[in-house]
Amino acid sequence: MTDSPVHDPNDVAAAVPDLETIVSLSKRRGFVFQSSEIYGGINAVWDYGPLGVELKNNVKRAWWKSMVQERDDIVGLDAGILMHPQVWVTSGHVGSFSDPLVECGTCRRRYRLDELPGAEGLSVTDLADPTVIERFRLICPNDGGPLSAPRRFNLMFQTFMGPVQDDASIVYFRPETAQGSYVNFKNIQQSSRKKIPFGIAQIGKSFRNEISPGNFVFRMREFEQMEMQYFVRPGDAATAAFDDWLPRRLAWYGQYGVAPERLRLREHAKDELAHYARKAVDVEYRFPFGWKELEGVHNRGDFDLSRHAAASGENLEYFDPATEEHFIPWIVETAAGADRAAFTFLIDAYREEEVRGERRVSLSLHPDLAPYKVAVLPLLKKRPEIVELCHRILADLKRDLMAVYDDTAAIGKLYRRQDEIGTPWCVTVDVDSLEDMAVTVRDRDTMTQERIPVDGVKRAILDRMESARS
Ligand code: GAP
Repeated sequence: MTDSPVHDPNDVAAAVPDLETIVSLSKRRGFVFQSSEIYGGINAVWDYGPLGVELKNNVKRAWWKSMVQERDDIVGLDAGILMHPQVWVTSGHVGSFSDPLVECGTCRRRYRLDELPGAEGLSVTDLADPTVIERFRLICPNDGGPLSAPRRFNLMFQTFMGPVQDDASIVYFRPETAQGSYVNFKNIQQSSRKKIPFGIAQIGKSFRNEISPGNFVFRMREFEQMEMQYFVRPGDAATAAFDDWLPRRLAWYGQYGVAPERLRLREHAKDELAHYARKAVDVEYRFPFGWKELEGVHNRGDFDLSRHAAASGENLEYFDPATEEHFIPWIVETAAGADRAAFTFLIDAYREEEVRGERRVSLSLHPDLAPYKVAVLPLLKKRPEIVELCHRILADLKRDLMAVYDDTAAIGKLYRRQDEIGTPWCVTVDVDSLEDMAVTVRDRDTMTQERIPVDGVKRAILDRMESARS
């Protein structure tokens, strides 16, 4: 829940100088829009436009590929967002899923204590101290007014299930996907006949009534998580699984193009650990607004399954046929945000350079993440035979790939447009194509061009995609 402050005086630079560069590109090109914008917007909810939904789907696909498709020991789940309310009492979220909130006595604005100017970097113990406001002389950043003592603010959204709106019908919008995997542990273990160690992976919406959301899609009230729960034998096996998963998760961001110098690991101090965690290490990224959490890897011990077993009366023990032991498995969790990951890939891919006296903006997205893999462009849209050949090539590409046609500008401008949305390759059909049945394939990053027979275009693009993976 808390973001770490920037500590390092020799900090590396962010991939973009300011957030505004990405916000304006996202809006202009249709990656992300403010939700309900025509009504003035709703705070901390964002809508993914045509390119954004492709990017985020590709991020989720890449995660699923590495966490489920390529593994023999992990299976998927898509649990409901609404769950039995007792789940959240048992999990500790009703009691402990909260952030410290302070209110200004004059303007009545509310702030998350640890994000106030002057409170950055305070320890969790200081933040929990009721005298923290006086001790650190904290004031309202808006009007300098006096601030209240901090109180805990629960981040879960509530609604009512069914036609009666009373306390008995309260249900919560899940604040994490993890609990769906815990309450389904037995169903999944028995139906899939998986032996420990094995994992359950899930991608889905989560909701948190964040006190101070912001930094675009970094912290939202409605967002998507990509979480994997790995069930292991108690004790040392959990430590070993943790040590195995942490570098794997760090490497995943590098595999899809994030610069290693803008990634780091940060272990949570004892007083910072979430209520369920024995150990937690964050994968952090150097955003334009500082080093922030991208993903958390947690050793949750037997906290979740023991508590759910006790509260539900179900036996959630695992029977190990090899040793004939019964035990409650421990859980190592990898918890990532789909929005935060997509945002990171977008920021880290941003390039600005001068080419022949003109500014060129490009997104050097990994081809697996790029919204379109290829654009098909006519050099002369007035020649119907050229346009017709473009559409033939496009139709063939579309059977296997996201491909797009554009003829609304001159070729130079068309290339720039595709560069700016991260399309790795452009296929250009020109007058010669009608004679030699060959086209030009241009590469986004190197801007080099290669002449390829029309019949070989799809194979060439698929081969290039394959080699980007190795
Ligand atoms: N099940 C454990 C858990 O939920 P977390 O560190 O609170 O752990 C995991 O969340 C990830 O979910 C974070 O690293 C972040 O990527 C994403 N996330 C959490 N809160 C978010 C928010 N308000 N907006 C966007 N992403 C968020």
